[in-house]
Amino acid sequence: MAQKIIVFGNQKGGTGKSTLAMHLVVGLLLKDRNVATVDVDARQGTFSRYIENREKTQRTNPDIRIPFHTTLPGSEADSVISMERENLETFTKLMYDLSSYEYVIIDTPGSDNNLSRIAHSFADVIITPMNESFIDLDLLVRIDDLTSNTIRPSTYAEMVWEQKKNRAVRDKGAIDWVVLVNRMSNMLSRNRQELDKILTALSKRIGFRLASGFKERVIFRELFLSGLTILDKDVPSIPQMSLSHIAARQELYDLMRALKV
Ligand SMILES: Nc1ncnc2c1ncn2[C@@H]1O[C@H](COP(=O)(O)OP(=O)(O)O)[C@@H](O)[C@H]1O
Ligand SMILES: [Mg+2]
Repeated sequence: MAQKIIVFGNQKGGTGKSTLAMHLVVGLLLKDRNVATVDVDARQGTFSRYIENREKTQRTNPDIRIPFHTTLPGSEADSVISMERENLETFTKLMYDLSSYEYVIIDTPGSDNNLSRIAHSFADVIITPMNESFIDLDLLVRIDDLTSNTIRPSTYAEMVWEQKKNRAVRDKGAIDWVVLVNRMSNMLSRNRQELDKILTALSKRIGFRLASGFKERVIFRELFLSGLTILDKDVPSIPQMSLSHIAARQELYDLMRALKV
């Protein structure tokens, strides 16, 4: 197996899984790491397309680094049993095929499916970006009553728990679950203070650690079409460095430090 398998997951779309996965990939490539990427969200294919766009930009900018990428569609077998068996076989084989890479970064869909579960069970690290909202918090943990502090894990947290067990049974490995808030508003709102407080309090009980997140920044949305990231330099199509751009880089370096990569 690769030194570190990092899975981006959350049972909700639009939280920044594909965008942040791409940024982490480029961060690692720029540190001369050997990186393979896998898109388990073949239906949406955002991660794959981000990489394809990068390949196009590479044609005129040969210095740009590209990961070794695989798109993995799920099995289409008729019965659930054969479908699950086929998925597990394909995924296990792919992980063995990629074992010479230092890092394998995997993007998963914002909905539950068998292949995504399997991908989670192979993770050394699961990164769950969420938006700055109580709706997103509810997808992580069900807070039945704030005052009496009664909580129960959401379906996603239960799924992660299940995959931690599967991983432990398979190879005694442990999964480090990292949650972060993405697209934070620039103002420190009461909402966010409240959210941070709850997340910090919950992390131990639900079994994740909280990493510092990313602010809402236009630059993240602008770079997709060129396949570039805020770390790419010396490419004509990259917008001029702004303060926000520098701050965004710092947020990414902070995440990489939290992941010890
Ligand atoms: N920090 C951010 N600031 C601004 N826009 C962001 C940020 N992170 C992601 N986005 C944008 O949010 C949208 C959803 O991101 P995406 O990575 O596709 O999420 P997911 O993979 O979880 O569905 C995209 O349009 C993306 O450009
Ligand atoms: Mg996505």
